Formats: sequence, C-alpha cells, structure tokens
Amino acid sequence: MYLSPRFRAFAAGAALLAASAFAQAQQAPQGLPNVVILATGGTIAGAGASAVNSATYAAAKVGVEKLIAGLPELSKVANVRGEQVFQVASESLTNDNLLTLAKRVSALSKQADVDGIVITHGTDTLEETAYFLTLTVHTSKPIVVVGSMRPGTALSADGALNLYDAVNVAGSKDAAGKGVLVTMNDNIDSGRDVSKNVNIKTSAFSSQWGPLGMVVEGKNYWFRAPVKRHTMNSEFDIDSINALPPVEIAMGYEGVSSIAIDAIAKSGAKALIHGGTGNGSVADRIVPNLQKARADGVIVIRSSRVPDGFVIRNAEQPDDKYDWVVAHDLRPQKARILAMVALTKTNNTKELQRIFWEY
Ligand code: DGL
Repeated sequence: MYLSPRFRAFAAGAALLAASAFAQAQQAPQGLPNVVILATGGTIAGAGASAVNSATYAAAKVGVEKLIAGLPELSKVANVRGEQVFQVASESLTNDNLLTLAKRVSALSKQADVDGIVITHGTDTLEETAYFLTLTVHTSKPIVVVGSMRPGTALSADGALNLYDAVNVAGSKDAAGKGVLVTMNDNIDSGRDVSKNVNIKTSAFSSQWGPLGMVVEGKNYWFRAPVKRHTMNSEFDIDSINALPPVEIAMGYEGVSSIAIDAIAKSGAKALIHGGTGNGSVADRIVPNLQKARADGVIVIRSSRVPDGFVIRNAEQPDDKYDWVVAHDLRPQKARILAMVALTKTNNTKELQRIFWEY
C-alpha cells in the first residue's frame, strides 16, 4: 500500500509520542523518591478547639499516619511512610530523646530504600534538634526538620504547606550534601543557622546569614550553601555517641547575681554557657565566679543574649588569660548543643575553640 512521505513522517512522529508517553507513565511510580517522616509531636501535630485558635491549642495530639493521610498531595511527590518516634511538645524533649531520634535518622539514612528523611517537630526547640542532627548524622541524603506555628485545625494553618515543602526537599537530589535543612514559611534554612525569632507568627524562623533558598510549588531555588562543617564532614558521629555531658546556661542581665553560675558550677555540669549582654559581656562582680568555675574544671563558653552578630574573642573579656571559649555566632541554646557534642571528644579549650570556629 502506497503511503505518502508526508503520512509516513506523521505516523512515525505519532508513534514516537505514544511510546514516550507510555514510558513516562511506566516511570512515574518508580520515579518517586522514598521519604520517611519521623514524627515527634509539636504544633504541626496539634489541635485547637476551634478554627480561630491559632495560638491556644494542644500540641502533640495528631499521629503521623493522620498527618500523612491529611495531605494526599504528598503521594504525587514521594513514596512516603511514617514512624511515630515521640509525641511530645518540643520544650519537653530530653538529651536522651535527641540521641534516640538522631540514631534513628542515622540508621534510616544508611538504608538503600530511603532517599530522604523528614522530622516533624515542635518549633520551640526545633533549631536545637536541627543543629544536633547536622553535627552528628553522617549522610549526604537530605534531612529536613519541619514544624508549624499554627495547628492544622486553625484558619490559615501553615503545617500542610510546610510539610509538603519538607517532603519535596527531602526527596530532591539537589538538596543533598547541604547539611540538615529546615523548611518553614517557604524558606529553606540551614539547621545550623536558623532560629525561632517570633513566638506566634508563621514567619517565625529566620537565619541571620539568610536562608539557603526557597521552595515554591514543589521546586527548590538555591541561593547559597553552608560553609560550616556538617554531616559527612563532621568529626562527630551519632553512631559512636551514647551519652551527652551536662551543659547548662546562665544569662547575663542588668543586676545579675552569681546564684545561677554558682549553682551550675556545683551541679556537675561539664560546661557553662554564659549568655552575656552585648558582645558577650560579663558583669565585673561575677567574673570571679566564672573564674572559679573554670578553676574547678568547668568549661566556660561566652555567648550572647543578643540574637545576631558574633562574640569576638578577647574583646569584652581576656579569654586567653581566663582560658575561656567564645561561641562565635551561636546563641546560647545552640552553643549548648555544640558544647555537648564537642565534649564527647575533648575538654581541651584550644580544641574546643577550634570546634566553635569550624561548626
Ligand atoms: N509546645 C510548642 C512545641 O512543641 C508548640 C510550638 C510549636 O510546635 O509550634 O514546640
């Protein structure tokens, strides 16, 4: 049968199109990344009495299976499965909880059938967990910590989109090797740099050095990468950490007394984080108390209650002379996380200062 050249060309094109559509249809289910959601509680799992309760609600009520079932859009971006690790408000998490969670993340990251991990978490201490994970979990697979500022029952709840973003980023190859990430309010922040800076707004989380990027409609837009050591490049490995030394915080303020410092020094704490005023300043009258703590073997680390900037070594205090460490740009709560991890390896103040410069 004679077929004109024009018809033959058309038929060949149509056949190609059909073949590629079929191939794509075949690939879709296999093409999705495998993402595990580890749930720990918090507001993202919270429930309020009514839709207008955006700040008054009970955290840690909704289980991970319900969170996943309530967001069917997840099934289009990843093969998702959930594990309920804890169901607590994050202010109540303990060092042991941190170790349990990090060890689970580490074990899952070694599984070939896991491409990325999401941790749903209360926002109050999310920044501390994210930093601990970035310091201790040896994987380049994306690990994303996510929370919400409003319960899912509230008007304009932010948890669903935050979780959708987190699963997208956790399943993205371009998120690999960037350290632990936090997706809140469309931003992708570094787990090291991000902090909660507003206690009741959906734009609560930010990093003084800026986000790493944004995720919009499931697509990641990157604008910078971390420069501090993390995950695969960390000298600390959760698989060889089974306990965290006690480290406590004493804040500086006008009229400060030595009560907190003296109590911490006698408590068996291995390090004391001083959240000083300004550039990590210490009131004259309590310098002797910190010096005594140091003489008794407690590591003294100068941080600042000022959220941004960084503490300059030997500026407000003669750190070399007192054998103190400075926390660089880390706020007291983050400095405590790094101090605990660092003290699992060394109590040498020169080594500790190196670690605070590098992480
Ligand atoms: N209790 C707080 C927490 O679990 C609620 C804040 C939140 O998760 O947003 O961190």
